[in-house]
Amino acid sequence: MVSTSSTDEGRSTGVGRLQDKVVIVTGAAQGIGEAYAKAIAKEGAAVVVADLNTDSGERVAKEIEADGGRAVFVRTDVSDQASAEAAAAAAVESFGGIDGLVNNAAIYGDMQFDLLISVDWDYYRRFMSVNMDGALVMTRAVYTHMQKRGGGSIVNQSSTAAYLYSGFYGLAKVGVNGLTQQLAHEVGGMGIRVNAIAPGPTDTAATRTQAGDASKELVKNLAIKRMGQVDDMVGACLFLLSDEAAWVTAQILAVDGGQVFRP
Ligand code: NAI
Repeated sequence: MVSTSSTDEGRSTGVGRLQDKVVIVTGAAQGIGEAYAKAIAKEGAAVVVADLNTDSGERVAKEIEADGGRAVFVRTDVSDQASAEAAAAAAVESFGGIDGLVNNAAIYGDMQFDLLISVDWDYYRRFMSVNMDGALVMTRAVYTHMQKRGGGSIVNQSSTAAYLYSGFYGLAKVGVNGLTQQLAHEVGGMGIRVNAIAPGPTDTAATRTQAGDASKELVKNLAIKRMGQVDDMVGACLFLLSDEAAWVTAQILAVDGGQVFRP
């Protein structure tokens, strides 16, 4: 991926950091995924907005196009192999191949509050199939397409919840971290890098539903005393997708205002 300028201006002169690449972003119909999709498009890539939510997903794709970018919405369930393969096929059909995948989708905003020892088993299985296995299902659907392009970059969305008590939500993110490390070794020889971003508490509609006033308490324990904004996440995602990170793989990058430290 050619890396030079990173602005609107860059795109119009054909020198965005992801110029002419094709990137699938899951869970891109709102929140952090929407910010990722729009920023990736501004860097010159064509974006596949892959989400369960058709209305919002189509809105995001249209807004990217209205801003001069290239995007298509594909209704996708990341836990379903056939759906993931259809999203990959749509990317190839629309834009000619696949260079990047951002596995951002998760059940989060409307997640049930329960304990590992009591959560309904069917709910738990569904939750893990989306929040943990979804990244693997999507990776399995895209990696041969990346191979055909000579390699690619996969960015998984983890969370600092992986390092804190947070029940099955955190457990799924521990799984995402492990998946990132293991997969990086399976596909590194194919020129495919796999990394993760672990955001701290970030101000999205989903977090406002989940945490409400508890966010104010969370902020007190951060080194930087404010909630993260979706745009705080974008730089890490663009870096990991781009050639600037050509020798970076199997890493989990916390973007969290100093919420956690791991010796
Ligand atoms: P959100 O709930 O606004 O967005 C999640 C998106 O995933 C939604 O558009 C939803 O429709 C989609 N989705 C859910 N299940 C799906 C499925 N089976 N297939 C395809 N799409 C599906 O969440 P938000 O706040 O934007 O978070 C995005 C990601 O960042 C999630 O992975 C979340 O766990 C992670 N994260 C968020 C933090 C925060 O404070 N907002 C902090 C740390 C991590």
